[in-house]
Amino acid sequence: MAENNEVPGPASQRVWDPLVRVLHWSLVVSVLLAWVTREGGGHWHEWAGYAALGVVALRFVWGWIGSARARFAGFVRGPSVTFSYARQVLAHREARHLGHNPLGGWMVVALLADVALTGLSGWLYTTDAYWGVKWVEEMHGAFANALLPLVALHVAGVIVTSQRHRENLVTAMIHGRKRPPSGRDVI
Ligand code: HEM
Ligand code: HEM
Repeated sequence: MAENNEVPGPASQRVWDPLVRVLHWSLVVSVLLAWVTREGGGHWHEWAGYAALGVVALRFVWGWIGSARARFAGFVRGPSVTFSYARQVLAHREARHLGHNPLGGWMVVALLADVALTGLSGWLYTTDAYWGVKWVEEMHGAFANALLPLVALHVAGVIVTSQRHRENLVTAMIHGRKRPPSGRDVI
């Protein structure tokens, strides 16, 4: 049922394509798996990490050739738009975005980049040249630990934005659909 009764026409519109959704939840599962198997590395840990790396690589390609809302060019905004959006959030005046909002867009970049750096440094640590090298191990741990605050902030952003605009962004990332735009919503 449509949450916004003022909007005529279809109750929802497709926003996230299937690949974006499958890649998102695959990334969540592989990063979680890599996290819980982190002690001492090991095969499960390495394969979970490689899976996360694979998801990031595919998402990167999809960010250039994918559907309109999946493309980085559509949601990675410049500093002036991003700061202006942040000020509007603080003033509780921000517009609803059908795709990623400007702050969310930068969070997407940060999450993908950090997972990539974590996976690559993990791989580096297993190579003959760098196996047992302390700074490589520490770098891998540091990138992995940086995921904690990033993911916490990401989930907080999802919850706050869902509340502000009275729509469930988590289920939208599952079925791909959101309430159609109205008023000053950004499509
Ligand atoms: C998103 C992906 C990954 C996450 C979140 C992650 C996270 C972690 C964390 C938190 C540790 C403990 C670090 C420490 O003791 O200071 C660790 C250790 C380790 N990781 Fe990963 N990792 C990932 C991917 C990988 C990959 C792709 C590989 C290799 C192919 C790898 C290989 C290792 C190894 C060998 C260790 C053990 C280091 C030691 O001797 O203590 N990791 N990882
Ligand atoms: C390891 C943890 C996580 C990582 C690395 C991660 C990463 C990402 C990435 C890269 C995107 C962009 C999607 C795309 O355009 O392809 C995204 C979006 C999203 N994520 Fe996560 N995520 C994580 C955990 C979660 C969790 C636990 C939830 C549920 C509470 C969640 C809910 C969402 C939602 C709703 C969006 C869409 C946001 C929007 O409407 O703009 N994520 N996430």
